Amino acid sequence: MSPHGSSSPVLPLLVLSLLLLSPPGTFAGGDGRPPSKPIVTPISKDGATSLYTIPVKGGAPLVLDLAGPLVCQPGSPDPCCACTAYSYNPPSGFWRFRHRGQRGSGDLTRTPLSANATDGRNPPFPVCFPAYAACAPNGLLASLPAGAAGVAGLSRQPLSLPSQVASRLKVASPFELQASPPVELAEGLRQNALPLLVNPKNNGAYYIRVHGIAVNQARVPVPAGAFDLDRRQGTGGVVLSTVTRLTTLRSDIFSPLINAFDAATSGIPRRKPMPPYDLCYEASAFGSTRLGPGVANVDLMLDGGRNWTLPGASSLVQVDERTLCFAFQNMGVGATVANSPAVIVGTHPMEDNLVLFDLEKGTVGISGLLRRMRINCGNFNFAMGSS
Ligand SMILES: *[C@@H]1O[C@H](CO)[C@@H](O)[C@H](O)[C@H]1NC(C)=O
Ligand SMILES: *[C@@H]1O[C@H](CO)[C@@H](O)[C@H](O)[C@H]1NC(C)=O
Repeated sequence: MSPHGSSSPVLPLLVLSLLLLSPPGTFAGGDGRPPSKPIVTPISKDGATSLYTIPVKGGAPLVLDLAGPLVCQPGSPDPCCACTAYSYNPPSGFWRFRHRGQRGSGDLTRTPLSANATDGRNPPFPVCFPAYAACAPNGLLASLPAGAAGVAGLSRQPLSLPSQVASRLKVASPFELQASPPVELAEGLRQNALPLLVNPKNNGAYYIRVHGIAVNQARVPVPAGAFDLDRRQGTGGVVLSTVTRLTTLRSDIFSPLINAFDAATSGIPRRKPMPPYDLCYEASAFGSTRLGPGVANVDLMLDGGRNWTLPGASSLVQVDERTLCFAFQNMGVGATVANSPAVIVGTHPMEDNLVLFDLEKGTVGISGLLRRMRINCGNFNFAMGSS
């Protein structure tokens, strides 16, 4: 087992900021609208599963699933529990939720969640709020990190966590986030935000438009329209996932990409590929840079000529002390399942990025590796919250 396969302590990675109203009567906004306060919570990575959790269930973690439709807690003895499965489907990159009975409010229970709210100036204070949660069978527990109390779906579906918080509290305004030493990142991201695409066939998952992929500044030759989302069929497109670590690409994109990376790194000594990795290197052969192993950049080419540039820290993963591997995997040929995206962007390239969703505007801003600016997600000051 690799050092990364063991159960390791959690590490703070990102900030989730949902919006929460203050309790009635605490203070009123000058414009007559009630003030809103973001809640902030650290996101931790489970070493054994590479899944990410947020501690919002009385301190117990819920697994973060960006594309997930709802809050889901396994192991409920509730006999009216009618849901049968919340299971991960690797080719499509989504967790699926299925009901045994008819969908109805009887399937849902109210569960108390808790988090810290912030006004940006003073230390955060705890808040509790009820949310609707569905129950799922014990089998789900086996696939979750030890101690996890369920899954927090963050999709655009009406019962996802952000939808519930925003609708119950009638707020949906933007939020800001500050790193320390003070670097304000949110405003720049908002100005350069990308539109989120909607896949009508797929449960509110977050798709972005990608025009191409480049290695070492050279565009990788992929078939025309390879990244396009077919809204009628619900297939294709590029989706962000927090339940897969590696970025998974359909074969017609993966093959030319790995060939281009292979060619761009031809001078670097190889090691035997270790499944699921197809391309591995002698770790000691790379120079070390602020942005990870010194290697050709991979660019995801986005709207408006912008790129999401993946330097070594984002394009390679350390598999063991001697081995670094290409952090992209082939979806495989038999992977043409319903709703299967062309690319599932996993958590590895999102690590130490600020990913700022604005669900009201339907946009997402992606900072790129923060180390470029000599900061990282660990610089976020949880004692003060956002600005
Ligand atoms: C709230 O803040 C306290 C003190 O900083 C911390 O111990 C606790 O874990 C936080 N709770 C959540 C849900 O983030
Ligand atoms: C984006 O990436 C492409 C391919 O590497 C490159 O040609 C282009 O100059 C980049 N654009 C910007 C704005 O950096």
